Amino acid sequence: MDRFIIESNRDMSGSIEVSGAKNAILPIMAACLLSPGKSVLRNVPNLIDLKTMSHLLRIIGARVEHVGTTMSIDGSDVCFCEAPYELVSKMRASIYVLGPLLARIKEAKVSFPGGCAIGTRPVDLHLKALEALGAEINIEHGYIHAKAEKLIGADIHFEKSSVGATINTLMAAVYAEGTTRLHNAAMEPEVDSTIMFLNKMGAKISGMGSTSLVIEGVENLFPVEMQMIPDRIEAGTFLIAGALSQNPITVKNCEPEHLRVVIEKLRDAGCNFDIETNSITLYPPKEIKPVNVITLPYPGFPTDLQAQFMVLMTLCKGVCFIEDTVFPDRYMHVAELNRLQADIRLDRGIATIKGVEELSGAEVMATDLRASAALVLAGMVAADKTTVSRIYHIDRGYDRIEEKLNAIGGRITRENA
Ligand code: UD1
Repeated sequence: MDRFIIESNRDMSGSIEVSGAKNAILPIMAACLLSPGKSVLRNVPNLIDLKTMSHLLRIIGARVEHVGTTMSIDGSDVCFCEAPYELVSKMRASIYVLGPLLARIKEAKVSFPGGCAIGTRPVDLHLKALEALGAEINIEHGYIHAKAEKLIGADIHFEKSSVGATINTLMAAVYAEGTTRLHNAAMEPEVDSTIMFLNKMGAKISGMGSTSLVIEGVENLFPVEMQMIPDRIEAGTFLIAGALSQNPITVKNCEPEHLRVVIEKLRDAGCNFDIETNSITLYPPKEIKPVNVITLPYPGFPTDLQAQFMVLMTLCKGVCFIEDTVFPDRYMHVAELNRLQADIRLDRGIATIKGVEELSGAEVMATDLRASAALVLAGMVAADKTTVSRIYHIDRGYDRIEEKLNAIGGRITRENA
């Protein structure tokens, strides 16, 4: 199992490029199941999660090729086949095949996703919405078995904002007869980019960028070609690396509009910015100010940057709190950061962070994707040497993170332990 050995260095500088957004590409890959013919996705990085999704799509009969940063998916021969536990347990986004399969071939069987390091993550909202469209859903032997002779448009109110449930329902509703209205839909950029892809394919979805979406069912969709949006979480992770550094860092190929609240919070922490159309230069503060953060659905502060922002706050001058309201149990990184001599107390779902002068290198363990990124950032600024084990989590969502960070002065070595 690979691990990172990280030597301390706060003297980073230069520019760093952001790759395509994993969480936008995963649903779009599943959307390719909706039409026969070959769709082409550009700006697709080399990530384990995307390999897992490719594997799953091939099991279902799609032809997937990924060369460089171009991925092609041919959904001509999609057939009924179950999404096995082995894949769904590795990657919960496998649930995204449910909506498209139900819409295209009227039946789908996907393993029920199990537990997850960031807390309980039910799929009840996905299932309720598909049922509202007329699907019959049975849970048998750990599998979700969904069938629908015909999907019929419906009015669906999500009781909670969910990226996954919104996208899955959209993908099922594109072929439903009549009109579907989604209320309290998620507004994340990954939802918008899926809508753009579906509309390019010939779907009729309006309301993009709002919590109310209207889908007019269509009879046919066609393969298309589209550029994938930049990863706002990877960009945010690099901005935080910049905030921890002593020199300016430029994050290239990003979409500043998707990072508004993150930039605001970093400004509150004392950072300054030069913002251009597709790049952000961050000037780090002399002294990191304490900033309180509550994670919320978009456009709020993203839960996927909570752990990384907490690393920045471990070195603030003062005390602040962080609360994750999206995934209230997402604090596995706290104990690991305290091993690096951070001062974080967790009480009833709120982390209170008292800034320390310096973190101190130690051996720590990655528990999930974003927590691993946080530990890498912490290791880059902790005195002496930090070892982060179980970094397979980080390869799920960051393309060659050590190469990218080393190019701006990081001292990260990958070791096969
Ligand atoms: C997606 C992202 C993940 C991110 C999250 C929130 C992907 C592959 N993953 O996950 O990185 O952290 O959005 O921005 O895009 N919920 C229910 N029932 C459901 C579905 C969700 O109660 O059926 C709850 C969840 O437990 C959570 C909240 O709704 O508390 C939001 O989750 P959701 O937006 O669905 O997250 P994912 O789509 O799984």
